[in-house]
Amino acid sequence: MSLVTNFEPIQSAKAEADLSATLWARLRQEAEDALSRERALAPIFVNSILNRPAFEDAVIHRISARLGNEIVPAYLVNDMFGQAVAGDATIGAGFRADIIAVLDRDPACERLIEPLLFFKGFHAIQTHRLAHWLWTNGRKDFALYLQSRSSDVLQSDIHPAAVFGKGIFLDHATGLVAGATSVIDDDVSILQNVTLGGTGNKTGDRHPKVRRGVMIGAGAKILGNIEIGACSLIAAGSVVLHPVPPHTTMAGVPARAVGTADCAEPSRSMNQILSQLAYESFTYTI
Ligand SMILES: CC(C)(COP(=O)(O)OP(=O)(O)OC[C@H]1O[C@@H](n2cnc3c(N)ncnc32)[C@H](O)[C@@H]1OP(=O)(O)O)[C@@H](O)C(=O)NCCC(=O)NCCS
Repeated sequence: MSLVTNFEPIQSAKAEADLSATLWARLRQEAEDALSRERALAPIFVNSILNRPAFEDAVIHRISARLGNEIVPAYLVNDMFGQAVAGDATIGAGFRADIIAVLDRDPACERLIEPLLFFKGFHAIQTHRLAHWLWTNGRKDFALYLQSRSSDVLQSDIHPAAVFGKGIFLDHATGLVAGATSVIDDDVSILQNVTLGGTGNKTGDRHPKVRRGVMIGAGAKILGNIEIGACSLIAAGSVVLHPVPPHTTMAGVPARAVGTADCAEPSRSMNQILSQLAYESFTYTI
């Protein structure tokens, strides 16, 4: 698994719009291709992708369909998502960076439609982005409802106040718990059954701060208001109770430094990924 994508920050609105268009062209081709091979899933390919006007609408539609139920229907979640994306440009930027992170770092992922339609880790982060927007805009009950619904449907329990960067990859996502004062910076990868929790001894700011490029292995428990330094690796099953310096591999219970880590080596740059997507889209159409 590649551990982190080497993102150059995308700053201009034009660059974000170009990225969205590149992703959208590729997704539509993938959906048409998938539809020709698997007619039984036509309603998903058509409703969530081919009938949508843009990448962001497709993400919103698919996740709203998963979250909707008879009490809070999908169209209502969809409307709320639309308002959030229109009101906060970082949410759409998160959609785009996160889907590229999955394609880049998940060796099991070959197409963009896989996270968009099926991967609950991608869906759980985007649900959190909406819940966080609602939380910070005074809609705490709707935010908590989404946390609860995401926990039911996507098996991830992320407090709406938690602050997530972009380019986050949640692999499987089952059993992820992130507390209210936890912070996850850009380009972090987290496997299943990870807890970013409090120790139980503190109130207030009590949850971990995970810096850029960290990889947290399956089942790791990180407890307390401690910083996990940039590009560190937390081994599967570790229990981390103390701050971790950057570029450190931690393992065991309690976790100890077992080596150094370098997150730059296995990554591809955003430009490389985009060139590849654009090239593949072009070769599909000729
Ligand atoms: C930590 C990890 C990233 C390997 O990093 P690495 O830098 O290549 O580390 P190494 O394999 O060289 O191991 C270094 C030491 O840590 C130990 N170690 C590695 N992973 C460990 C773990 N999960 N628990 C306890 N000790 C571990 C090794 O035994 C080794 O100890 P030694 O020096 O006494 O022999 C990897 O072991 C890991 O845990 N990855 C998580 C992957 C995951 O969650 N997969 C689930 C997929 S569904």
